[in-house]
Amino acid sequence: MATYDQAERLRGVRYDVRGPNMVEAQAMEARGERILKLNIGNLAPFGFQAPESMLRSLVENLVTAEGYSDSRGIFSARTAVMNYYQSHGLAVDVDQVWLGNGVSELISMVLQSMINPGDEILIPAPDYPLWTAQTTLSGGVAVHYLSDETAGWVPDLADMRSKITERTRAIVIINPNNPTGAVYPAGHLQAIIDMAREHNLVLFSDEIYEKIIYHGAHTHTATLAGTDVLTLTFSGLSKAYRACGWRAGWVVVTGPLHKAESFLEGLTLLANMRMCPNVPAQHAIQTALGGYQSIDDLVKPGGRLYDQLQLAAELLNEIPGISCVPAKAALYLFPRLDHAVYEIADDEAWALDLLRKQKLLVGHGTGFNWPHPDHFRLVALPEEELLREGIRRLAAHLETLR
Ligand SMILES: Cc1ncc(COP(=O)(O)O)c(C=O)c1O
Repeated sequence: MATYDQAERLRGVRYDVRGPNMVEAQAMEARGERILKLNIGNLAPFGFQAPESMLRSLVENLVTAEGYSDSRGIFSARTAVMNYYQSHGLAVDVDQVWLGNGVSELISMVLQSMINPGDEILIPAPDYPLWTAQTTLSGGVAVHYLSDETAGWVPDLADMRSKITERTRAIVIINPNNPTGAVYPAGHLQAIIDMAREHNLVLFSDEIYEKIIYHGAHTHTATLAGTDVLTLTFSGLSKAYRACGWRAGWVVVTGPLHKAESFLEGLTLLANMRMCPNVPAQHAIQTALGGYQSIDDLVKPGGRLYDQLQLAAELLNEIPGISCVPAKAALYLFPRLDHAVYEIADDEAWALDLLRKQKLLVGHGTGFNWPHPDHFRLVALPEEELLREGIRRLAAHLETLR
């Protein structure tokens, strides 16, 4: 029988955040079962709302937002992004800013416009798996450097260095990190920048959680990278501004632009080919970046996000055989399941079993390109009562496995 098959270039492309276990959860929901889904960093279903000022900007501009915009994005929004980084000490011009339908689209565009078949990209393990998936889809090879759990999940610099080859083109930094909640110290960033300088590598710095910080301080990689290391900084409205569904993000290109003319021409071509990012949402960017930052109230002690992340780590650490590094940032925890207590050979199957028996959906660690089946990601977005309930179900399931 002739079949309609997917393209071969999709071979090896995985995005388990929305993988087979989520499909099973949807099937269970279709049968009327109620699933507690702690698998995706989507804020709206848990009662987080975008600031009203942003909503107003979107509504006010809706009637004039019917046409395509400049393919890089509207000038006022790009200027606001420029001003934001300038106020953080980065020399940047409006022509160095591209807007996208979320950071996701920009990751795709940037990798498609830079990678040749066989080019190696250094990506953290664990990672936000879109980076690995898009690298593979672009014909590149994702090479994973380890993050060190015993040191609060910072990149293992020796491991990173050992994985640089003649084919390495770029290093991906996810800071603050999804899924580990780490915030990288400036010294670590500097060491990575020095490696990039020495080997002529590009830095992709995904900083979408830069404002969701509970402990420590965030440093923009680009402010340390100087003028000789090409650095692409990614951020957007999805997380800190609680507007995942609006699909608004940006990438800022800094460093030796005169050496990057060909790449930027390619990026512009891809920007033109997708016409433009979602125009109504672009109108909220200027409003978001200026003035009062409501996220600050959510991430300080007593704020919902701060309290939930701390509580979740505490409750997880009370479960025998689980150890969890508390998150310094972002929305997630990446706890470890002690192999001496739980013999889990296949963590995806373990998560499926948890889903079927306890109606709780979490992300299995190997889905985040962690090399061992001994971790999982928990999204700490529900309010206290539901969060406690989710972790209670997890504990009950684990008890049957001890
Ligand atoms: C580290 C990281 N980068 C990028 C994204 C994608 O963000 P966006 O909604 O802007 O496409 C996410 C979403 O969870 C993320 O965690």
